Amino acid sequence: MHTADIRRRFVEHFEAAGHTAVPSAPLLVDDPNLLFVNAGMVPFKPYFLGQETPPYSRAVSVQKCVRTPDIEDVGKTTRHGTFFEMCGNFSFGDYFKAGAIELAWDLITKPIADGGFGLEESRLYPSVYEDDPEAVELWKKITGVPDDRIARLGKSENYWSMGVPGPGGPCSEILYDRGPAYGADGDFGAEDRYLEIWNLVFMQDELSAVRSKVDFDIAGALPKQNIDTGMGLERVAFLLQEKANMYEIDVMYPVIERAEALTGRRYGANEGDDVRFRVVADHIRSSMMLIGDGVTPGNESRGYVLRRLLRRAVRSMRLLGYEDRALPELMPVSRDKMAPGYPELASDWDRIAQVAYAEEDAFRTTLRSGTQIFDNAAVETKAAGATVLPGDKAFALHDTYGFPIDLTLEMAAENGLTVDEDGFRALMAEQRSRAKADAKAKKGQHADTSVYRGILDANGPTEWLAYETLTTESKPLALLSGGAPVPVLGAGDIGELVLDRTPFYAESGGQAADAGTIEFDGGVLEVLDVQRPIKGLVVHQVRIIDGEYSVSGTSGELLAKVDPDWRIGARQAHSGTHVVHAALREVLGPTALQSGSYNRPGYLRLDFGWTSKLTEAQYRDVEAVANNALRADLAVGWDYMTLEQAKDWGAIALFGETYDDTKVRVVEIGGPWSRELCGGTHVDHSAQIGTIVVTGESSVGSGSRRIEALTGYEGFAYLAKERDVVAQLTTLLKTQPDDLVGHVGDLVERLKSVEKELERGRLAQLLAGAGTLAAGAVDVGGVSFVGEIVQGAGGGDVRTLALDVRGRLPGDRPGAVLIIGVADGKPAMVAAVNEAGQAAGVSANDLVRAAAGVLGGKGGGKADVAQGGGADASKVDEAVEAARSALAHA
Ligand code: ALA
Repeated sequence: MHTADIRRRFVEHFEAAGHTAVPSAPLLVDDPNLLFVNAGMVPFKPYFLGQETPPYSRAVSVQKCVRTPDIEDVGKTTRHGTFFEMCGNFSFGDYFKAGAIELAWDLITKPIADGGFGLEESRLYPSVYEDDPEAVELWKKITGVPDDRIARLGKSENYWSMGVPGPGGPCSEILYDRGPAYGADGDFGAEDRYLEIWNLVFMQDELSAVRSKVDFDIAGALPKQNIDTGMGLERVAFLLQEKANMYEIDVMYPVIERAEALTGRRYGANEGDDVRFRVVADHIRSSMMLIGDGVTPGNESRGYVLRRLLRRAVRSMRLLGYEDRALPELMPVSRDKMAPGYPELASDWDRIAQVAYAEEDAFRTTLRSGTQIFDNAAVETKAAGATVLPGDKAFALHDTYGFPIDLTLEMAAENGLTVDEDGFRALMAEQRSRAKADAKAKKGQHADTSVYRGILDANGPTEWLAYETLTTESKPLALLSGGAPVPVLGAGDIGELVLDRTPFYAESGGQAADAGTIEFDGGVLEVLDVQRPIKGLVVHQVRIIDGEYSVSGTSGELLAKVDPDWRIGARQAHSGTHVVHAALREVLGPTALQSGSYNRPGYLRLDFGWTSKLTEAQYRDVEAVANNALRADLAVGWDYMTLEQAKDWGAIALFGETYDDTKVRVVEIGGPWSRELCGGTHVDHSAQIGTIVVTGESSVGSGSRRIEALTGYEGFAYLAKERDVVAQLTTLLKTQPDDLVGHVGDLVERLKSVEKELERGRLAQLLAGAGTLAAGAVDVGGVSFVGEIVQGAGGGDVRTLALDVRGRLPGDRPGAVLIIGVADGKPAMVAAVNEAGQAAGVSANDLVRAAAGVLGGKGGGKADVAQGGGADASKVDEAVEAARSALAHA
């Protein structure tokens, strides 16, 4: 049965049982606890958490998921995929354990002819949480499975939570027995034998603290019991397709086949190569799906995961003996298999391919330079008599040159060395915890969101009025400092204030937080930052600039006031970002898709997928298209609609945002000219942006470029400053602005010709002395010798002079010249010997060597002319003397 068929049967089975089919959400989520969507329930979290009311009580989905903690296991087991599809059915306060068991059992055991999966009942083993006797009874009653076929497992296997306070509960897994070839009878820990195909989570508990998978506190029962299930699509596919593992199913194996053709090796010949083939098949698919959802390779968080996947794929191909560009050969094969389920892979292919291939090219360069660094480190290690490559070297290779550790290990082994892996891992761990702390600090003031969750639970979501007003009368709900509630803040203190309602825009979607003040009876708080650490709750970071503020002690309402000038600037900059994005796509084409942005009053920057530097013409065109859009005074509007409608409308969904399926906000400028999903604040008409001045364009990692611009008054101020510079120059040069470039060009030309003239004069002067020098030659052992020091003469002059003096010596007798010039404190010398001198055995090379030795330098050449340099200009006299005595003893 094809994977697509399994997917279809799953959805149809649950639709027939009253479930609403919900399309897969993108892989990217706006959740401080998650890098990527890693389970089918993630998009439904607000419903499970009771933050939002679900529009349906039953849902079914096939969700794209990425999990990378087990990346090292990929290809080594039968079932570890970094990308996989999770089929799930969900009940929000509707059916519970009995319903979930019945629906799942029915689908997997129903004959294939009747729309099911037709799995043999005798091979199926349910597992239950050991403290869930209710589940045992239900399994027996509903499915007729005997008691001894029901596995009782502990918390680590069969209790499920999100790892944070909130809903959780026991689960039941359905295990499929693949037979004694894969492990011992009854050993449910042998996961290759008892393969978990479906996990049914019975959400019934409210957890107040989660310290680990097995250590948590249950505060009580959830008011509404929910069902969350996950069936591994690839796992069921490999069972039904009678394959040994997930990498061999219909949507993955063609990549392995292509890799076989490219490398000339055969899958199935040896385990080492097989693992590599499987890594290739898995990683190519995962990276394609990630790029499809907007991730670009980088050195942090999501971008780093993608980079690692792409590089591991390329590296695995090299280990299989294929050194050419591999991705253009392999990724299209994966696309053709996945596009029927995910059509955007085909429609967005140009961009996806561009990003992936550019990363492969960058990695190939890395491999070339890193290999040299590695070689040096290996030589150094050996020279020091050691056999262990230091951990910091391996780390530097990894960190600076992107050299994967397995590559370092392997190359070290080839050189008869080992690597201090502990040292390497310690440095990696250090770096990782730094990166983690950074990422968390960016999201909110504190990594632990439970205190915010408590405030939200007690008061409900903040009434958020940023679209409606700049000022609200608000009540304080909580005051925090250092992540914990405090009663009071004194003058100068910084803390966090939560209000029942606020007009402040919290940083999101690239738009900086609003600035402003919160006034209280007896003082003023300055708003430094505004964040939304959890959905629904707006938190103001404030500093007391006046008075002392106490939540309970200060009477009266607060006045929250956004700085109106700030907000005008913020609206200009955010609308300006959309305009620049549309202009980029108009000039460069639709592959120039935004991958990130930031804007604050007066300034915007936008990162977009593009592999080469913009030409001067493209740069100017983008600016011209953008400013024409302002002149056209396009209407700016926004509307709420379903994600489906937004897509039909051609709205660009920017990645990294989660979009609530029921209502997304689409901002449009000039109708279809610019339509983006966006929660930001915008101007009403494009002319209100004032102006857009593009100030720079640069590279930000492979396949990605950044454009920066100034908007509104700041744009004007930038141009005004340039005008001032022009004005000063025209005054200085006594010319008109239009003539300025010609005038400066003339000046530069004139300067060049004057410099040339000067140069000629200097040389003439130098050479004018040549006759005198030649006339002053002294006899050294039958050779006419000129040894002279010329202050201020550099290398070229010294040579000209030496040759000129040599020409002036009588040609019929041996002659030798040594000129040492000293320019900028550095001696440079040239020796020249005439033909008679050379015939008599005198060599310019010898003279230079003798002199350079004294100067602590080097030199050399031929018998006729040689040159050299030195470090110590104080010894030039001695150097001439050394050359003379070398000549005397020749
Ligand atoms: N959320 C459950 C899991 O991920 C179904 O296993």
